[in-house]
Parts: sequence; structure tokens; C-alpha cells
Amino acid sequence: MSRTVPRPEDKLIELVEFLAPIPEAVPVARRHVAEVLRGWGLGALTETAVLLTCELVANAVKHGSSAPAPLTGRARQQIVLTVRHRGGLFIEVWDPGAKGLHPQVRNAAPHDEVGRGLHMVDTLSRAWGHYSPAYGGRTVWCELALPAGTEGERASAR
Ligand SMILES: Nc1ncnc2c1ncn2[C@@H]1O[C@H](COP(=O)(O)OP(=O)(O)O)[C@@H](O)[C@H]1O
Ligand SMILES: [Mg+2]
Repeated sequence: MSRTVPRPEDKLIELVEFLAPIPEAVPVARRHVAEVLRGWGLGALTETAVLLTCELVANAVKHGSSAPAPLTGRARQQIVLTVRHRGGLFIEVWDPGAKGLHPQVRNAAPHDEVGRGLHMVDTLSRAWGHYSPAYGGRTVWCELALPAGTEGERASAR
């Protein structure tokens, strides 16, 4: 796994992490997001951002692993987490999963232990969505509003 953590004095506003598609990717992603938000002065968003990152990475591990052609070699074995600070806080998770599967909010019954992740993403984010890049796989993303007074803050879209 490689990492690039921008320092506050850098003009970098993006963190990109390559994660193995295994359950251990979830705590690794959690640590990286908490660390980078601290560095960006966005500690107030840590709790929510970490929660949503964990759901998106867990989904990439659980639902995104059946890579078809044309993805080959390394691309089939990676999840890519991107965190971007630009007008809002964007969390994107790319997985090499097949085209036919679509992330969708499920109506979980009170005792269901699955089917709550995207409901949480939908409730706690300002916006979320997914798309299939031309090179394959799928990206699921969500956006959190920056705290009032943060540089680059944009008015809420919701
Ligand atoms: N990265 C993904 N790739 C394909 N399908 C996904 C992905 N993330 C979520 N989904 C679909 O959306 C559904 C809802 O996701 P979620 O609410 O996290 O529930 P769960 O992961 O417990 O099934 C999943 O059951 C799955 O069918
Ligand atoms: Mg899930």
C-alpha cells in the first residue's frame, strides 16, 4: 500500500491511497482519513468522514471484487481511496467490480445486520453517487460540507 499525505503548507488538496481488497483495508483507510483531516485542519469532520469512508471501503471489498476484463494484473487487486478538499470534502472509492452491479440504498428491516451502509452515506453526506469510468471498475463517492468558516467552504447543495 502506498500513501501520500499532504502537509498543510503544501498546496496539495488530495490524498490517494491504494488498498488491498481485504477487510483490513477498512481500518487502514480509517487511519489515513483521520490523519489527513487533522493535517488539513478539518478535524471536526473526522467522525463522519471516517464512518462514511469505512462504509464505502467495506462495500468495495464486499461487492467490488469480481473484476472482469479489461482490467488485468494489479488493477484487479486494488481499491483506490481518494479524499479531496475542494469546496467540500469528497471521499471517493474506486473498485474493480463488474459493471452490472449498482450501489443502491436498501430498506433494511430493524433487525437486519446488512443493508445500512449506503443509507448512512445518503443521510450523512451532502451528496453521493457512483459512476463507471471508461477504464473499468466503479467509483462510489460522497461529499461532506466543510464546517462554516473553512477556507473554500461552499454553500450547501441540499
Ligand atoms: N461498490 C459497490 N459495488 C457494487 N454494488 C455495491 C457497491 N456498494 C454497494 N453496492 C450495492 O448496494 C447495496 C447496499 O449497500 P449497503 O447499504 O452498504 O449494504 P450491504 O453492504 O450491507 O449489502 C449492496 O447490497 C450492493 O448490492
Ligand atoms: Mg455495505
